[in-house]
Amino acid sequence: MSDPKPFDPLAGRDPAAPLDEETQYLFEDAVRRMPKCELHLHHEGAAPPDFIRQLASEKSINLSGIFDRDGGYAYADFPDFLRVYEAATQVLKTPEDYHRLTLAVLEQSAEHGVIYCESFLSPDFCGGGDVSAWREYLAAIEDAAGIAERAHGITLRGIVTAVRHFGPETAKRSALCAAETAGEFITGFGMGGDETMGHQGDFAYAFDMAREAHLKLTTHAGEFGGPESIREAIRDLRVVRIGHGVRAIEDMALVEEIAARGIVLEVCPGSNVALGLYPDIAAHPIKRLQEAGVNVTVSTDDPPFFHTDMTDEFVQLHKSFGWGIPEFCALGHSAIAAAFCSEPLRARLKKQMETN
Ligand code: ADE
Ligand code: ZN
Repeated sequence: MSDPKPFDPLAGRDPAAPLDEETQYLFEDAVRRMPKCELHLHHEGAAPPDFIRQLASEKSINLSGIFDRDGGYAYADFPDFLRVYEAATQVLKTPEDYHRLTLAVLEQSAEHGVIYCESFLSPDFCGGGDVSAWREYLAAIEDAAGIAERAHGITLRGIVTAVRHFGPETAKRSALCAAETAGEFITGFGMGGDETMGHQGDFAYAFDMAREAHLKLTTHAGEFGGPESIREAIRDLRVVRIGHGVRAIEDMALVEEIAARGIVLEVCPGSNVALGLYPDIAAHPIKRLQEAGVNVTVSTDDPPFFHTDMTDEFVQLHKSFGWGIPEFCALGHSAIAAAFCSEPLRARLKKQMETN
C-alpha cells in the first residue's frame, strides 16, 4: 500500500473507535477532495435527471413514467432499469446534446475529485451505429472533454460499448465504429446490457475486430450472470478487465484464476446494492475478492440512477469495512495501473495521484 499524500483525518486513531461528527465531516471532505480514477461509467447513465428533463422539455418529449416523486429515476428491477435508461437516452438526439451531456457529466465527476475517467460510449445511441454519424458525435464528446479538462482538470477517455440485448450483429457495427476511431481518445471496447441474453461468445467477432484495432477489452460479466458468464468472457472474449465480476465469489476456483491472470474487476458496490444483488455494502464481496488476491477497482456505474458518487462509494466502504484514505489511495493506484490509456498519460496521472 503506497504512502498516502492526501490529508487523513483518521491517521493515528483507533480504527474501531466511532467517529465524532466533526471528524466524520473532515473525513468525508478529505475523501471528496482526494484524486480519484474511475474506470466504469456509462455516459448516458451518468446524466443527471434534471439534465434529461431539461432536454425533454426543450424537445417536447414526454418522459412520464421514468421519474419518481423526488425527481430521481424510478425503476423496479434490472430489466426495468434498462428500460428507463433507454427511455432517458431517447432525448439525446444530436452531437450537440452529447456535448452538453459530456460537460455535465465531467463537471459532476470533478466535484468528487475524479482526475481521470473512462466512460462507455455507445454508437447505437450516438448515430445508430453509422460510422460517419458516430464520428460527428465523437467529435462533439471530445471537444466537450477538452473544455472540461481545461476547466476542471479531469481527463476523459472513451470505451466504445456494444449493448448486449441489441444482439451480435449490432455489436459488430459498434466494433466497426470503435476500430475506425481507435486512438488516443477511444482506447477500449466493451459490452453492457442484459447479461442474461445469449452468451459472451456470441459477440466474439465484434471483440476480435476491436482487438485487431489494438483496443483494450472489457465486458460486463458476473453481475446478472453467474460465474459461468465470467468464464465465458475470459475464454471467448479474452478481456483484460471485467465490468462487475463480483459473482466470481460464488466459485473460488474462478476467483483464483482471475487473480492469477491479473484480470481487473471494475467493481461498482453502490450499483450492485441498488440493483438488488446484495442487501447492503457489508454483504458485498469486494473485500473478500481483494483478500483472495483479485485486483479490484471502484466505480459508480450510473451514479444518479443509484444515488451514488465516488465520494459516497468510498464513504460506504469505510462504514462497512473500515477502509480509509490509505486503502482508497491504493484503489486509485490500481485503477491508474489498469486504465486503458497511453503510457505518458498513465505516468502523468500517477504523479498527480502522488502529489495531490
Ligand atoms: N448499462 C448501464 N448500466 C448497466 C449495468 N449496471 N449493467 C449492464 N448494463 C448496463
Ligand atoms: Zn456498467
